[in-house]
Amino acid sequence: MKILVTGGTGYIGSHTVVELQNAGYDVVIIDNFDNSHPSVLQNIEKISGKKAIFEKLDIRNKQALKDFVSTHKDILAVIHFAASKAVGESVENPLKYYENNVGGTVNLLEAMQENGIDNIVFSSSCTVYGEANPPVNEDAPIMLAQSPYGNTKQICEEVLLDQTKASNLKTVSLRYFNPVGAHDSALIGELPLGIPNNLVPFITQTAAGKREVLTVFGNDYNTPDGTCIRDFIHVVDLAKAHIKAVEYLINKKHTSSFSVFNLGTGKGSSVLEVINTFEKVTGVKLNYKIGQRRVGDITQIFAGCDKAEKDLDWKTERDLENCMKTAWAWEKHLENNVNSQS
Ligand code: NAD
Ligand code: WQD
Repeated sequence: MKILVTGGTGYIGSHTVVELQNAGYDVVIIDNFDNSHPSVLQNIEKISGKKAIFEKLDIRNKQALKDFVSTHKDILAVIHFAASKAVGESVENPLKYYENNVGGTVNLLEAMQENGIDNIVFSSSCTVYGEANPPVNEDAPIMLAQSPYGNTKQICEEVLLDQTKASNLKTVSLRYFNPVGAHDSALIGELPLGIPNNLVPFITQTAAGKREVLTVFGNDYNTPDGTCIRDFIHVVDLAKAHIKAVEYLINKKHTSSFSVFNLGTGKGSSVLEVINTFEKVTGVKLNYKIGQRRVGDITQIFAGCDKAEKDLDWKTERDLENCMKTAWAWEKHLENNVNSQS
C-alpha cells in the first residue's frame, strides 16, 4: 500500500499526503524544497500522526531518481506534483519550465518503467482549455497555450498518452481549476514566495497588512458584476480526489489506460464575490481598488464535474466560505510562525 508522491511537501502535495495517510497508505515523498519548506514534514506528521518516508531529491537528476525508486519496488502508484508553477516566471524563463516540468516528468516515467511501476496520477490544469464556454467538460478542445507553463501541462499530457500507448502505464490526468484554502488544522497551506500572483494569497496578505492594497484586475468584463469568474476548489477536496484517482487505477476501475478528469466545484465565483465572502467570514475589511485588466486573463471559467462524480465517485464538500475561513487561519498561522517557515 505504498504510494510515491513527488512534490509532496508543496501546497497540494502536502494535503494529499495527509489524506493518503488517513486512508491507510504508506507514503514516500520526494521533493527538492524548491518551493516548500522542510517544516511541512513535521506538520504533516502532527496532523496524521504518521511519518512519511522522505528523500530530498531533484527529479531533474535522472540517475538519483532511478536509484531511489529502485529501492522502493513495492510502490503501487505515483502521484506527480513536482513542477514549477509561476505563469509569469515561465514567460521570462521558459527553459526552466520545460526542463523541470517536461524533463522531470520524462525522468520519472523512465524510473517507473525500469522498476515496473505502472500507475501515475498527474497534476494538470484547467489552463489547457484557455477561454471556453463554461461549464467546461473534459472533451472541450485543448487551446493554444497562453504561457510556457500552460504548454508544459499540455506537453506532459501528450508524453503520458504516448507512453501509455507504448507500455503498461496507466494514467489519470487531473485538471485542477483554482485550488484555494488550507487544512483545518492551519498547519499546512500555500506558501507563496515573494509577491503572490494568485488572488486568495493576495487577499489574505493584504488583510494581514503585508500588502497595502489588493488590485481587482478589471471590472468591465461581460459578467454580472464585471469581474472575472473562476471555479475555486478547496485544497482538501482536491486532495481527496487524488486518493479516488489512485484507487481508480489500482482497483482497475478504469476502462481506458489514459483518463482525464476535471476537478472543480462546478460553480463559478467572481473576484468581487470572493472578496465579499472573505470579509463576511473573517470580519476583516479588505483594502482593495479596481484597476486595469491583467494581460492574459480569461473572462470566466468553471468546471463541468460530472465525469469525476460518476467515475471517481468524488465531489466537493466545501464551499467558498470554508475556503476563505481556512485560508485566513493559515495566514495567521504563518504570521505567528514566521521564524519556523522562512
Ligand atoms: P507547489 O509549488 O506548492 O508544490 C510543488 C512542489 O514540487 C514543491 O514542494 C517544490 O519544491 C517541488 N518541486 C518542484 N520542482 C521539483 C523538482 N525538480 N524535484 C523535486 N521537487 C520539485 O505547487 P502546488 O500548488 O502544490 O502544485 C502542485 C502541482 O499542481 C504542480 O504540478 C502544479 O503545476 C499543478 N497545478 C497547480 C495549480 C495551483 O493553482 N496551485 C493549478 C493547477 C495545477
Ligand atoms: C484569479 C482571478 C485575476 C490577483 C492561475 C494560473 C492557472 C492555474 C491557477 C496552475 C483573475 C484576479 C488576481 C490579484 C485580481 N495554475 N486577480 N487581483 O489566473 O485563474 O489561474 O492559477 O495551473 O494556470 O494562470 O488565478 O488566482 O491568479 O486569478 O483581481 O491581485 O483573480 O484577474 O480574474 P488564474 P489567479
